[in-house]
Amino acid sequence: MKFFIDTANLDQIREAQDLGVLDGVTTNPSLMAKEAISGDKNVMQHYKDICAIVDDNVSAEVISIDFEGMIKEGEALAALDDKIVVKIPMTKDGVKALKYFSDKGIRTNCTLIFSAGQALLAAKAGANYVSPFLGRLDDIGADSFGLIEDIRLIFDNYGYETEILAASIRNTVHIVECAKIGADVMTGPLSSILGLLKHPLTDSGLAQFLADHKKAAGQ
Ligand code: G3P
Repeated sequence: MKFFIDTANLDQIREAQDLGVLDGVTTNPSLMAKEAISGDKNVMQHYKDICAIVDDNVSAEVISIDFEGMIKEGEALAALDDKIVVKIPMTKDGVKALKYFSDKGIRTNCTLIFSAGQALLAAKAGANYVSPFLGRLDDIGADSFGLIEDIRLIFDNYGYETEILAASIRNTVHIVECAKIGADVMTGPLSSILGLLKHPLTDSGLAQFLADHKKAAGQ
């Protein structure tokens, strides 16, 4: 399973990269705004800064909602660095843009996926990644893991190479369940990744080992 961090915060991206398990970064306009990044020049520079930290897979989202605008923005983003994956919303123009970029060999991530039908359409259009939003489905009481299972089944039925990027991850349970179901990638906050480290028996076990070592050394 690939691990992406879902943030535009450079310190958090560095911390995840330092851990040695990071495969990429996903951003969106809300996450960029959270870091107070605005203006075309600053936004582009921020994506370059992110690319300088990680090895690959930096999802950068277009703001335009019309086909021509998406193409212009997406091409400019892709030209920044080979690590850029152009993030496109699941709309009619978005599907056309996915096909356009796929034909040009520019990688894409189709975002705001909430149904298996949307994921199927994005895969047919040649998206490299589809991003179903788990947490937001949970928020409305929908079956988020069931959606991942359905997409997995459909992609396997037809051999689509599009990767399932489980997004809107909120906690470690989301990550582990997605890994069991077969999501290819998860993207979540740093806290969800670091949360995988924790178990109280690990803490008490380590404390006991160290205490026993100290006791033995003192004898
Ligand atoms: O990057 C898209 C997605 O991960 C957003 O997550 O927590 O805002 O629902 P969230």
